[in-house]
Amino acid sequence: MDNKVYAPDSTDAHIDALKKRYGGDLVILGHHYQSDDVIRHVDIVGDSLELARRIPDIKARNIVFCGVYFMAESACLLARPGQRVFLPDHDADCAMARMARAEDVERVLERLTSTGRRIVPLVYVNSSLAVKAVVGRFGGAVCTSSNARIMLEWALKEGDAVLFLPDRNLGCNTARALGVPADKQVLLDLSRDNLDTEDVRKAKLLLWPGCCPIHESLMKVEMVDAFHQHFPGCRVIVHPECSPEVVERCDGAGSTAYLIKEVENAVAQGRESALCVGTEFHLVRRLMEKYADRINIIPLAQATCPDMDRVTAEKLLATLEGLDAGKGEVFVEEALKAPARESLVRMLEICR
Ligand code: 13P
Ligand code: SF4
Repeated sequence: MDNKVYAPDSTDAHIDALKKRYGGDLVILGHHYQSDDVIRHVDIVGDSLELARRIPDIKARNIVFCGVYFMAESACLLARPGQRVFLPDHDADCAMARMARAEDVERVLERLTSTGRRIVPLVYVNSSLAVKAVVGRFGGAVCTSSNARIMLEWALKEGDAVLFLPDRNLGCNTARALGVPADKQVLLDLSRDNLDTEDVRKAKLLLWPGCCPIHESLMKVEMVDAFHQHFPGCRVIVHPECSPEVVERCDGAGSTAYLIKEVENAVAQGRESALCVGTEFHLVRRLMEKYADRINIIPLAQATCPDMDRVTAEKLLATLEGLDAGKGEVFVEEALKAPARESLVRMLEICR
């Protein structure tokens, strides 16, 4: 672990000066997966649900979002007229979001609903605005890892079946927790075009074949087993973007907010000597450092997200320097706004 004492450099000093200059006209938001170099400049830190919830109350004219593209797009949708949203690097996209293209989602939904079946699309917030707009037009809603359970329950009641996208793992893990039988879940195979099979027609849950490469590929069953072996009786908790096989072997799974809460509860109760946390490493390392003298927090894997890491303090500074000129401003297509907002607002209303 890096135990260096933090010494502000000229980038930090410039950022501080610009924050002072803009005062109440600027708010910097940051997702928990951002590096320390960025987080130290952030006014509001949160997971995707918390950050989305905070937007409507923000009065500042300029919102700089340190996260990935879909989060900045959601901020644009929820922002007030005249407010501007900035993302320090527009190539900071989410690998999972790229696995569902709007034209494919639309084509699949048209096929699935062509027989008159009511298919409710439920889209994880980690998706493009264009995909959220398709989902809104088909009467569906957005969900996050914090509210996936409530939203899936809602969607299952609303329709004959649910199309969950893009994360097959979050979909499957949530369905298992709700007791949806395995034989009522089907993983779509877009390359084999399995949309008209008997299985699909009978399914309650159709899973889009997307995933988070960080949580799926870098967090393995063997790692969970190794931890349990080395620390008998200690718990492993993970993000539900991990594979169902990993989640099954763990002692708890939930959103970023859940993982943080579990660590805080473990510290408060003082009964556990070690706790293994399986999610993005910047967040886990901050928890390790924060509670180093109280509990041994161990990362399941040292996995950071390359998309989140595209945002750096230097790029944040460049964005702040170019704020008046609109450098890094995020624009969303006007025609997509209303249907995408519908799917997002539906979530906020159901989870109010
Ligand atoms: P949260 O919804 O928990 O913030 O997670 C977002 C994300 O990108 C997880 O990989
Ligand atoms: Fe996307 Fe995974 Fe990165 Fe989260 S960790 S932003 S899901 S690629």
